[in-house]
Amino acid sequence: MQVNAMDDNRVVIFDTTLRDGEQAPGCSMTLNEKLRVASALRDLRVDVIEAGFPAASPGDFKAVRTIARTIEGPTICGLARCNPQDIKRVWDAVKDAASPRIHVFVATSRIHREHKLQMAKAEILKSAVESVAYARSFCDNIEFSPEDASRTELEYLAEVVEAVIEAGATTVNIPDTVGYAVPGEFAEVFEYLIANVPGIENIRLSAHCHDDLGMAVANSLAAVRAGARQVECTINGIGERAGNCSLEEIVMAIKTREEFFGVTTGVDTTRLYPTSRIVANVTGMHTPRNKAIVGENAFAHEAGIHQHGMLRHRATYEIMQPEAVGLSRSNLVLGKHSGRHAFRDRVEQLGFHLDDIELNRCFEKFKRLADRKKHMYDRDIEAIIMNVDVGKAGPWVIDELQITAGTGTLAAAALSLSHQDGRRTRKAAKGDGPVAAAFGALEAATGIELELKNFEVRGVTTGDDAQGEVTVTVEYNQQSFRGHAVSTDIVESAAIAYLEVINRILRRRDTDDQRPRRAIAFGQP
Ligand code: KIV
Ligand code: ZN
Repeated sequence: MQVNAMDDNRVVIFDTTLRDGEQAPGCSMTLNEKLRVASALRDLRVDVIEAGFPAASPGDFKAVRTIARTIEGPTICGLARCNPQDIKRVWDAVKDAASPRIHVFVATSRIHREHKLQMAKAEILKSAVESVAYARSFCDNIEFSPEDASRTELEYLAEVVEAVIEAGATTVNIPDTVGYAVPGEFAEVFEYLIANVPGIENIRLSAHCHDDLGMAVANSLAAVRAGARQVECTINGIGERAGNCSLEEIVMAIKTREEFFGVTTGVDTTRLYPTSRIVANVTGMHTPRNKAIVGENAFAHEAGIHQHGMLRHRATYEIMQPEAVGLSRSNLVLGKHSGRHAFRDRVEQLGFHLDDIELNRCFEKFKRLADRKKHMYDRDIEAIIMNVDVGKAGPWVIDELQITAGTGTLAAAALSLSHQDGRRTRKAAKGDGPVAAAFGALEAATGIELELKNFEVRGVTTGDDAQGEVTVTVEYNQQSFRGHAVSTDIVESAAIAYLEVINRILRRRDTDDQRPRRAIAFGQP
């Protein structure tokens, strides 16, 4: 859906979870994971999905093209540097979308000009204009971003903005690339541009803020007050370094304080919590308990005086209803006697849409788990849905895993794996602990050696029969990979997560997608 530039009260929500969010270390996603997130963003009714950076790698190109071809509703956008190859690559990836957009950017601040680009002001301006005009030859929906705008001299910024508008840009985005701005000052950038750039009234102004000083949402709101009518944001605020403006926070701020801001968004806020859970599960980047809007404690009232007030009148201590963000008040416990119908009901209340085949697969896993675990909580059900396919894509699958461990001795792991092509292998290894032994045996069996960078275990719920979720981050050929899995046995979760990464590397060997992406991401050619 395209929102008109002149629609004064509507703030366009531009989601960049799949581009800026995915650039965060350890947040890279597989094609299936990106599709899952893109479907959730469509259900959330964001206006624009920035689906990736097609020139970064063949995998990125394929993901953007698949999203453009399959996700109906939002505008699908791809990012390009100011060069014809990148722009053409974006166009090839997004052209099949019902509403495509090309987003071109070049840095304009003095520090980027002198040290990164080594280009003069005039050269950058020329490159921006030529690139926007070239992009416009393919598509009538063009966004331009002067990277590091918040540290760019205002007069030069206005000159660039005026020139790209003349060249055909329909949205001009003002990034606070390094999260340096503060709200009053950031608002002044918008006020200055609105007062000094002829033609600015015909385009949509956008804000793109990073959270290095914890002010991404505040700066974006200041920009909206000053006239921005698009905000670029990510689910759970994931993104480079401290992340981007958090979508759920900006949307709920605009909704809760509508009389103050005088604007609205088209987001279905009841999908915020399920979407946040999907992104947390897919990226392994979990939200802190006290995270605004979607954190576990965001609606919990512990202090007696607050509980007393809440019982008298909810509004005493609650400015938003949990239902408004899609958080259901009941955490109904299911168990092994719960039937398919109760399971389906709960899955739907949690905001997941599964077809019959997916539901059956999840229900089978639910029944198996319910035999090992007394109470099944919402988080268990989410974990089943998000992990139902983990460990199944192959080529290697674990058939058997045996661990022996004790104090004062090395742990030993023996496992047998089978390969899609019919091969079977058995290997054993020793290690400082059961997890190290299992990883060693997996490396011996598959011939892939990984460098473990991070290992995290968290209980999906509480209780001594709780499932443990393991997330491993590893490096292989200078690329970072992440795998996660859940089980009531954490050594088993760890082994499945590690094998998940090995399998992903083996599957990628069949594609031409081995280039490290982050290295080329932001230098202009
Ligand atoms: O932070 C930034 O400047 C960006 C641009 C590419 C929009 O992500
Ligand atoms: Zn950014």
